[in-house]
Amino acid sequence: MSGRLSGKTAVVIGAAQGIGAAVVERFIEEGAFVTVGDINERLGHTFVDRFGASAAQFKRADVSSEEDVKQLVTFAGKYNGRLDILVQNAGIYPLGDIGSLPKARWDEVFAVTLREPFLLPKPVCR
Ligand SMILES: NC(=O)c1ccc[n+]([C@@H]2O[C@H](COP(=O)([O-])OP(=O)(O)OC[C@H]3O[C@@H](n4cnc5c(N)ncnc54)[C@H](O)[C@@H]3O)[C@@H](O)[C@H]2O)c1
Repeated sequence: MSGRLSGKTAVVIGAAQGIGAAVVERFIEEGAFVTVGDINERLGHTFVDRFGASAAQFKRADVSSEEDVKQLVTFAGKYNGRLDILVQNAGIYPLGDIGSLPKARWDEVFAVTLREPFLLPKPVCR
């Protein structure tokens, strides 16, 4: 690997598995320090343990919660006082019959997948 992200710090949300986890692996290969934020605490801890404390750390965060996102950004910034890369990868897409989909679940889809990607950079840009 080229070390293109050497000295950079990144936050990847929705990264305990799937596409987000693959992004984390690649960032680490390129030399970044990555904070993994995910709603799934068990998976998240198991995942970052593979890399060691010098490469990655985990914080439980629900991206639909403004407070969780603020705390995640603060936590990530404590590593070396900077945040270079922010990836909002968390998304939910309930499959199945729309007739049995509760309205509250649809609101959740919007909060996680559409509202937060737009609002997420706010605490970082301050
Ligand atoms: N897999 C595909 O074919 C595909 C296609 C198009 C778009 N996408 C999008 O790519 C992204 C990742 O897809 P994937 O297949 O890797 O998903 P995945 O379900 O495998 O992983 C999503 C991760 O996000 C976490 N997550 C869910 N809700 C969260 C929340 N509220 N706060 C924080 N973390 C949360 C989950 O715990 C999980 O670790 C999603 O946004 C998805 O909509 C995926």
